[in-house]
Amino acid sequence: MKLGVSSKLMDTIIREDLEQIKGSIDPGPFQGKRALVSGGSGFLGSWICDVLSQIGSKIICVDNLSTGVVENVEHLKGTNGFEFEKADVCTYSRSPKVDMVFHLASRPAPEDYQKHPVETALANATGTDKMLDLARKNDARVFYSSSSEVYGDPEIFPTPESYEGKVDPLGPRSCYEEGKRFGEALCKAYHDQYGVDVRIGRLFNSYGPRLRPDGLYGRVVSRFIMQAQSGHDITVFGDGSQTRSFCYVADSVTGILRFLGNNRASAEALNIGNDEERKILYLAETVKKLVGSSSTIRFLPFPKGDHRRRLPDVQKSIKQIDWLPRTTLEDGLRRTILWLKK
Ligand SMILES: NC(=O)c1ccc[n+]([C@@H]2O[C@H](COP(=O)([O-])OP(=O)(O)OC[C@H]3O[C@@H](n4cnc5c(N)ncnc54)[C@H](O)[C@@H]3O)[C@@H](O)[C@H]2O)c1
Repeated sequence: MKLGVSSKLMDTIIREDLEQIKGSIDPGPFQGKRALVSGGSGFLGSWICDVLSQIGSKIICVDNLSTGVVENVEHLKGTNGFEFEKADVCTYSRSPKVDMVFHLASRPAPEDYQKHPVETALANATGTDKMLDLARKNDARVFYSSSSEVYGDPEIFPTPESYEGKVDPLGPRSCYEEGKRFGEALCKAYHDQYGVDVRIGRLFNSYGPRLRPDGLYGRVVSRFIMQAQSGHDITVFGDGSQTRSFCYVADSVTGILRFLGNNRASAEALNIGNDEERKILYLAETVKKLVGSSSTIRFLPFPKGDHRRRLPDVQKSIKQIDWLPRTTLEDGLRRTILWLKK
């Protein structure tokens, strides 16, 4: 098959990771299929576009470029029928023929979405409605990118999909947390009423090449790397004892594609995250060491509404889609550091 990707625009790290993803999924369900990827020029969406394009899907990438950049998919334009449409998913009015819809359009980072709470809530409410309606008209399969944030401030660790969540509907993150919860409810409603084949991926902190390097809070991996590389203070919120589970992008994208390609996983929610729990302070120290930086680690006040722990239970993902992250935090960080250096 002729690849649609201009090799001079792809760097080695991304090429290697794309090969790993392609080797870890069954390309059958995607070959010769038409996919709409909302949020396709963002971090995760552009990886999905790359993989799908290389395995022979025709893609319509719909993005309003609010947090994504067109450079992430520039190399795909005009190849394998790839189309880029600058559009807001909430007002999307075309009805293209598609076999699958990946709905990723949403502002993901707290510092940013708290400045745009209405757009954030609506991308997951009205935007999800538009994408589900398009899928219904086409009898297409849907992947909805939900989040570990639907669990709010969980009381059970590792957190299984059956945990109902502890979320403040009026809290500082509610536009996102409740937006994702409503998006999930709408997926279930379209499934129950119209039989739409929906898959809900609850993503836990994903990181890797193409993560925004501007250090928005919530993009902690790229912020620490940029701070360490430039010799600025590495800024940790609170005392750094709060934990996260970091999943390298190649693993996250493999999980998403296995989930959508699987014939038995309809109307399910699956945790897509790494089951290694790490303190934020450990992340800061590890980044500092791997970069070889002399930066000082500086502690800032803990933000209101932030959560103390994140740890997915991945037993259901193992069982349903035979998926488990393969990349250690140290390896993933090395790859991200190398890519950000470029
Ligand atoms: N990366 C993670 O760790 C993570 C974790 C949990 C959930 N998620 C979810 O995964 C999805 C993708 O996240 P990401 O990390 O790639 O973020 P990203 O910001 O890189 O990508 C989101 C994309 O959506 C676009 N977008 C936002 N609102 C839009 C709208 N109304 N209409 C059209 N396009 C719009 C942005 O321009 C951007 O390109 C999001 O839904 C996010 O909530 C991501």
